[in-house]
Amino acid sequence: MHKTRLSLSFPQSFARRRISSSVNARPGFVEILGAQYPTDSITNITPAIIAKLPMRLHARPAHPLNTLRHLIESHYSDFAHLSSLSPLVSPFKNFDELSFPQDHPGRAVTDSYYVNRDLMLRTHTSVHEVDVFRSGKDRWLLTADVYRRDEIDGSHYPIFHQVEGARIFPADVSGMKEVAEDNARLRHLLAKANIVIEDVPHITATNPSQPTHDPMYSELVAENLKLSLNSLMLTLFGGPGIGGATPDAPLRVRWIEAYFPFTSPSFEVEVFFRGKWLEILGSGVVRQATLDTANVSNKLGWAFGLGLERIAMILYSIPDIRLFWSTDERFLSQFTDKAITTFQPYSKYPSCFKDVSFWTRQDIPLHENDFCDVVRDVAGDLVEDVKQIDSFCHPKTNRTSLCYRINYRSMDRSLSNEEANEIQLQVISRLEEQFGVEIR
Ligand code: DAH
Repeated sequence: MHKTRLSLSFPQSFARRRISSSVNARPGFVEILGAQYPTDSITNITPAIIAKLPMRLHARPAHPLNTLRHLIESHYSDFAHLSSLSPLVSPFKNFDELSFPQDHPGRAVTDSYYVNRDLMLRTHTSVHEVDVFRSGKDRWLLTADVYRRDEIDGSHYPIFHQVEGARIFPADVSGMKEVAEDNARLRHLLAKANIVIEDVPHITATNPSQPTHDPMYSELVAENLKLSLNSLMLTLFGGPGIGGATPDAPLRVRWIEAYFPFTSPSFEVEVFFRGKWLEILGSGVVRQATLDTANVSNKLGWAFGLGLERIAMILYSIPDIRLFWSTDERFLSQFTDKAITTFQPYSKYPSCFKDVSFWTRQDIPLHENDFCDVVRDVAGDLVEDVKQIDSFCHPKTNRTSLCYRINYRSMDRSLSNEEANEIQLQVISRLEEQFGVEIR
């Protein structure tokens, strides 16, 4: 999630932006979802990513992401359900409008995909909060694909899906009466349920209510957020059929103090499931600045955002995040609409790893995410993981040498060594061409 990103960077140099090869765009432009956009020195969106933009996995009937989304939507049946907003947003909307600081690592070109300086792929569904609140909706869910440059392994993919949920109330006595009544109703429901909740205080010195909020109002809203999400956790993880709670082992949920630029107080939720604590979502009391920008200053409320892949991998026992993108019938035919079932793995094909060692150029930065994007662009979903196995700086010349191990494996068929060699050669020539590396 946004709070844990570490890498800081700056716009990359000229050499790496070779993106027009697989799209029908004029020079200096890139075609995305049928429209052409100018590129500039920070453009880093790749053809592999552009090709996936129209896929909309969360809208495909019986796809696990669609089923999970429907489960959440049916839990929040009286909320508006949105799912068709464009992934192309301005960096201003993605970050500034949500009070992200100027130096937030999520803004770096190493971490996010930019079409150009003024347009990027959304990195989270929170980007739409202002617009949805402005449209007058006071309780809503929004499902969408989000994009982050990342490493390559079984649980990271540069595209994943989030559900954002929010509810706002009139910031007055009548609104707070509504919250208190809803809290009483939810508390009553949860008291009868098979769930144990480890809580943290709603508001503390390190997780304060906002200066413009009456602390009592903020407290009531934070409580509503927690009760509402506890009952969602019960819907998602509480059923005995999926390895969840049983009469002698209730569902365990714990709340953790957190920080997000656009909420205060802020929380994370973890669920104890099949022997492990799993981080499920981020949430909090919406920053008043967001509601002011949306022209609903007279309201206050809460929001949360959760990642669908992580939850679906757990509930369906799906071992590799690439499988969500599989078009293999052995994957797709396993699932039926509106039911969560256990994934039956079909044969696992042999893997084959290839190493590449090279000297980097001092004047062309090569971030690990740049390396991974080259690999994804050439190898697509044939790559299972990428690891840096060596890094060293020559004491005399001060040059840096890196060695990466790329593990190739198809999920659908056997990959021959010749094919893997061929892909590896393409990876190498892209590295030479875009980053000027010198193979060792
Ligand atoms: N947008 C956050 C992320 O992707 C998740 C999140 C946290 C959403 C807190 C929220 C929220 O609505 O209130 O990491």
